[in-house]
Amino acid sequence: MCYSIPGKIISIRDNIAIIEYFGEKKEALVDVEDIKTGDYVFAQGGVIVQKLEEDEARGMLAGWEELFFKLQEKDRILSGENPPLSPFFKGGTHVSQFRRGETNNFPPLEKGGTGGFDVLSILGKAQACEIPSRKEILTLLKCSNEEGLSLIYKTANSVRHKIHKNASCVHGIIEFSNFCKNDCAYCGIRSENRKIERYRMDADEIVNAVISASNKYGFKAFVLQSGEDSYYTTERLIEIIRRIRKSAGVLLILSIGERDVESYRRLYGAGARGVLIRFETSNPDLYSRIHTTLQYDDRRRILNELKAIGYLIATGSLIGLPGQSEEDILEDILFARSLNTEMYSFGPLIPHPETPLAEMKAIDLETMLKVVAVARLIIQDGNILVTSAVEKLFGSEGTRQVLMAGGNSMMINLTPERYRSLYSIYPGKGEGNSNIRRKITETMSLLQSLGRAPMDVGI
Ligand code: 5AD
Repeated sequence: MCYSIPGKIISIRDNIAIIEYFGEKKEALVDVEDIKTGDYVFAQGGVIVQKLEEDEARGMLAGWEELFFKLQEKDRILSGENPPLSPFFKGGTHVSQFRRGETNNFPPLEKGGTGGFDVLSILGKAQACEIPSRKEILTLLKCSNEEGLSLIYKTANSVRHKIHKNASCVHGIIEFSNFCKNDCAYCGIRSENRKIERYRMDADEIVNAVISASNKYGFKAFVLQSGEDSYYTTERLIEIIRRIRKSAGVLLILSIGERDVESYRRLYGAGARGVLIRFETSNPDLYSRIHTTLQYDDRRRILNELKAIGYLIATGSLIGLPGQSEEDILEDILFARSLNTEMYSFGPLIPHPETPLAEMKAIDLETMLKVVAVARLIIQDGNILVTSAVEKLFGSEGTRQVLMAGGNSMMINLTPERYRSLYSIYPGKGEGNSNIRRKITETMSLLQSLGRAPMDVGI
């Protein structure tokens, strides 16, 4: 089993290829050499990462073909053959008319609550591509009755299906250093935590971890994550990225925190194509309460700089921060939407005993499902990650429910076993998942039980 289906290039124009997967067409940037129409390729995140021999590709496709259509049918049925809100659905093909990058569609909230909107008509609007107001979105985030919640999740899932069909992404993540110079109040690897054993993987270990996971398990996209660790200079990272890109056809996504724009530009030049960096919260006061070494404005500036360089961006916020209100979460979702990025990652805070937020209570599953569902309804396109913190807090049933409420993307932890439990940004992180093969099988069977297929749809 591999985590990406090969596609056939049917045309290329200005370095953009149209790739066909069992009749579905997707665009991708040509990022490897000697690519021409008729070639079979793997793409990730809208980037061609590897060319395949025709025989090999045909063999893989033959293995996928029957399963692919079965999965597609299963997803179609599970996501509601008829739109759940048919009276409101305006019919026709779903083409999102939402224009992102604009926030002025959302007049500021007035004081005085949400004003008695009914969930059904708000969902009808979202489904018909009309933009709900801030107040209406807040009504969804504040909904607590079972019927309303179930409709919110189902509608979000039907929007996910209309946009992505059954395509899902499964990426590997390698946490290569838990040294961090920052002091984020939520994070277990904050510099102030003197109780954890610190580790760094050297260049050979990182390169080998990626290449062996790519060869052994078929991963095509990797997140390389660390604390903000200046040991990994731009030069060291460039060497690592170049070595990986030379020996494996994979998409590399960096999650290394804040760096200056020139450094990120050079890392792109070396072959990194994505960056995972959350804005953590869109509330500037809250941001400054939980960060001593980081500035709200810097994070927002960096996100824009990274986009301008050409990186695919995954971003989002922490849910369950102290004093965070539904209004804050609403602003997180609208800010994420305005960034118009490829992937969104909203995850629950899991209080870590060695941090100032040790006494916080984590959010419940209902809150998490609402955040993901509303993000899907409001942002619509883009991939929405089911975070590992969701799995830790709510188990595989929680993961399943998030996938059924608009989520469509997952990550599998491929950090070498001896380091895995040391990357303890939250307690218990990396524990209980020591058998990678088993984790992959479980993830794939969960996805397949929901009719999802691992296909290139973005990072
Ligand atoms: N619980 C959940 N997520 C956390 N992160 C850091 N600490 C925690 C925690 N205790 C998240 C941050 C960061 C990402 C790498 O991990 O949002 O951006």
